[in-house]
Amino acid sequence: MQVLVTGGAGYIGSHVVKQLLEETNHDVCILDNLSTGHLETVETLETIAREAGRGALRFYKMDLADFKAVAKLFMIEKFDAVMHFAASSIVSESVANPLKYYMNNTVNTAHLVSCCTEAGIGKFIFSSTAAVYGEPQEVPVKETTSTEPINPYGMSKLMSETVIRDTAVVNDHFDYVILRYFNVSGADVMASDAVPRIGEWHEPETHLIPLVVKTALGKRDSITVYGEDYDTEDGTCVRDYLHVEDLAAAHLRALEYLGLPLAQGDEPNIFNVGYGHGFSVSQVIETVKKVSSVDFAVEKGKRRAGDPALLIADNQRIENVLKWYARYDDLALICKSALAWEGKIDE
Ligand SMILES: NC(=O)c1ccc[n+]([C@@H]2O[C@H](COP(=O)([O-])OP(=O)(O)OC[C@H]3O[C@@H](n4cnc5c(N)ncnc54)[C@H](O)[C@@H]3O)[C@@H](O)[C@H]2O)c1
Repeated sequence: MQVLVTGGAGYIGSHVVKQLLEETNHDVCILDNLSTGHLETVETLETIAREAGRGALRFYKMDLADFKAVAKLFMIEKFDAVMHFAASSIVSESVANPLKYYMNNTVNTAHLVSCCTEAGIGKFIFSSTAAVYGEPQEVPVKETTSTEPINPYGMSKLMSETVIRDTAVVNDHFDYVILRYFNVSGADVMASDAVPRIGEWHEPETHLIPLVVKTALGKRDSITVYGEDYDTEDGTCVRDYLHVEDLAAAHLRALEYLGLPLAQGDEPNIFNVGYGHGFSVSQVIETVKKVSSVDFAVEKGKRRAGDPALLIADNQRIENVLKWYARYDDLALICKSALAWEGKIDE
């Protein structure tokens, strides 16, 4: 197959491209405007493609908002499947600039979906998020838990889900898998010398594990814990931290699943991706201190609006239907790979 990966120069998309190149014979085409992704990541993926010697890799520096160029690309290339990662994903920015999120996430997704239906492409895999649940009504969170996003980022993703689902209802040949990711972290663990070749590289960074790792490496003076009075064992928020390699593997399972006749079933193809258990902010900090052997400064901060105490996936559906099982459910391993990667981008 020829797979289009939008956002393949970014954190999660690049790990999926890596697995496609190393574990399948599919050709991969990356579409990315490099707004938050990195050319260095694409170059590393080109090296990985050469070394793997399986499918080919092509890169188009292109903005999804350039509808003419995107439509033309669908005429030049014959895609069999689309994996759509490209998006804006900083919650606070979405609150300050909601239109950026509705345009880049929802409008551009709608256009991409229309290119797929025009070209007769039947396999569409979409990066969604636990943010669609807002402050969830139940934990662990099921796919059937009510979706009530509390910020424009979560809403822009839920609206994209709706576009995809409604399109599938009236287009027999268009099928989809929507993956709702929980807290993605860690970096490439397949490198032969154990130094990740790719990893999380956001500027600015807003996620806990890379921020703690940066603190351990002296790139930040301290790490702040926002709230120690939550109704959890140690009072700090608990999240379902998922290794990016396991998340990437879920996309490969989803692609296989879309090739099966049973993928056309009545149930929406929406799956949580998480481990079904979590760690607190304090546990993450302790784990990074342990794996780095650095005792860095920790500050106390006030609770932040919209931070639920617990956010944990019920992952029964993805295990039962996609036959996806975790391989790297190990917080120390996640933190170690994040630390090794962060040390590398330091150089
Ligand atoms: N990182 C997480 O923990 C997490 C959690 C839940 C969901 N997600 C979703 O996963 C996807 C990937 O996230 P990530 O962390 O890899 O983000 P990222 O910012 O590292 O990657 C996004 C990529 O998309 C590209 N892009 C953005 N807008 C584009 C446009 N208009 N045209 C072309 N390219 C564009 C960027 O340059 C970047 O390479 C996003 O859809 C995000 O909402 C991420």
